[in-house]
Amino acid sequence: MTDEQLLSLAREAAAKAYAPYSNFRVGCAIESVDGDVVTGGNMENACYRLGLCAEQSALTAAQHKFGLAKVARIAVAGGTDATVCTPCGGCRQAILEAAQLSGRDLEIVCASGNGASVERHRIGELIPFGFGPANLIAG
Ligand code: THU
Repeated sequence: MTDEQLLSLAREAAAKAYAPYSNFRVGCAIESVDGDVVTGGNMENACYRLGLCAEQSALTAAQHKFGLAKVARIAVAGGTDATVCTPCGGCRQAILEAAQLSGRDLEIVCASGNGASVERHRIGELIPFGFGPANLIAG
């Protein structure tokens, strides 16, 4: 699957997000090493702090469909203008978990909601010197 195809699935997932409080819809699509794909969108809550990000929603689906160790590539798209939506700090940490389990410096294709801008980042770049499962094994 091309980056654009994966991003298109992320955008479709954003359209199904539940974000009545922020009105900021985010979608995430995750591809496995075998080509399976899962998606997720942000899901907010009347108790604001309980909201779930799109990436964590999709990572949960990934664990259940093929396992975090098989995550190969992640696409994120969100918002309505040309500003690229990159994963928040908590989501970077969640992606780091999959990256260390899979042994891959995962690529995250990040896009704006209107499709005008795309950036590609590695998780090692988004969360340098991160603490993950590898640290616990080492300890
Ligand atoms: N959001 C995500 O789903 N992923 C991110 O990486 C950034 C933020 C969601 C959380 C909240 O529902 C809305 O976007 C506004 O912060």
